[in-house]
Amino acid sequence: MESPIALEELLKSRGTYRDAIGLPPKVYSDPDFFVFEREAVFASEWLCVGREEQVQEVGDYFSATPAGEPIIVVRNSESEIRAMSSVCPHRGMCVTADLDGIDDENMLEPTKFLSGNVRYFRCPYHWWVFNLEGQLTGAPEMKETDCFKAEDTSLENIALEIWNGFIFVNFDINADPLGPSLGKLEKAVRNYDLSSLKTVDPAVIPDVPFNWKIMIENFMEMYHNSRLHKGIHDWAPSAGAPGTPSSYSDFEEGDGAMFGFNPSLEMDGGFNPTYKALFPPLPNLTDEERQRVVFAFVPPTLLIGMQSDSAFWFTVNPTSPETHELSMAYLFPEEVLETPLFDELLEAAIRGVGYFNRQDIPTNIATHLGLSSRFANRAHYSWQEAVIPQFNSWLVNRYEKQMEGK
Ligand SMILES: [Fe+2]
Repeated sequence: MESPIALEELLKSRGTYRDAIGLPPKVYSDPDFFVFEREAVFASEWLCVGREEQVQEVGDYFSATPAGEPIIVVRNSESEIRAMSSVCPHRGMCVTADLDGIDDENMLEPTKFLSGNVRYFRCPYHWWVFNLEGQLTGAPEMKETDCFKAEDTSLENIALEIWNGFIFVNFDINADPLGPSLGKLEKAVRNYDLSSLKTVDPAVIPDVPFNWKIMIENFMEMYHNSRLHKGIHDWAPSAGAPGTPSSYSDFEEGDGAMFGFNPSLEMDGGFNPTYKALFPPLPNLTDEERQRVVFAFVPPTLLIGMQSDSAFWFTVNPTSPETHELSMAYLFPEEVLETPLFDELLEAAIRGVGYFNRQDIPTNIATHLGLSSRFANRAHYSWQEAVIPQFNSWLVNRYEKQMEGK
């Protein structure tokens, strides 16, 4: 597949912060490049779509549209979590499309999708019925259609893997498993016991107005922490703490994650108006772990932040070159949810994150505008943002493969 940007230009962004330069600015806004990138990056990588605790009981399901593909994640009758396409094999209607609550005012709006608990999925259009495994079990008035075979008809199966409670899907059913590529991250975050934590206060912002890669870069790089967030980030400076500088993991071919450690000046800091953790520290953390923030990225979609008392996660799902859907939620041990005043303390934590967002989000919007300018430049990076050329390298490897048809 042809890229609208020459490989030679893209290759200048592969490397480390010592040598690589920024991606060609067109990768952040060009519509043709967006189409190319969706194939190169999203068609065969593991995309995080949610958490295990969203589908606890048999029949629990949720809808998602990773890279624009309507899919269903369901706990089937064997109590296994599975993913399948929501696209009815009959005429292309989405079986989980939400037709309730439609009125004259909103009937032209983009499709919304259902989540909940069901015994089967019934396409609202012609009432074809699929079981929780996606197999067609009923199709009215099809008996006279001699060539039609119900037993060969199903919702398309999609590869699914769970890592530490996070549900990933892959449109390439033969993709290599995700888990083995996350060994380094697994080791670094073991004591957070992420699989046991519970998602709290999930929220989705459907049309965040800047390119998805700008969100990733902003979340992962620590360079701006002591500058854009001067004051509110002082408890965890960009450079780290005396004797323990900030650092990023070594990133090598085959690694499925990038992550960085931002040490704090004292133990049990927090992103909230008190700069202190509001909840008890996670039970298995070492003193060193309680004195740092970890930022992790499982490309292309999952961002995780880990601090002494909790974690938070984002998924970044591109919807156009200029927009993405952002979902965000907190993770806490189940017993902490029972603590007195949990809701009030959570409110303070959310306000703290809101403070950051009010600096980061307008910065990202303005950066998107700047990167669309005729004067946009391709600059070198600081060691404090070493993760960006790592991400660029990961991307360029995939862009290159796509161009070479591999
Ligand atoms: Fe920030």
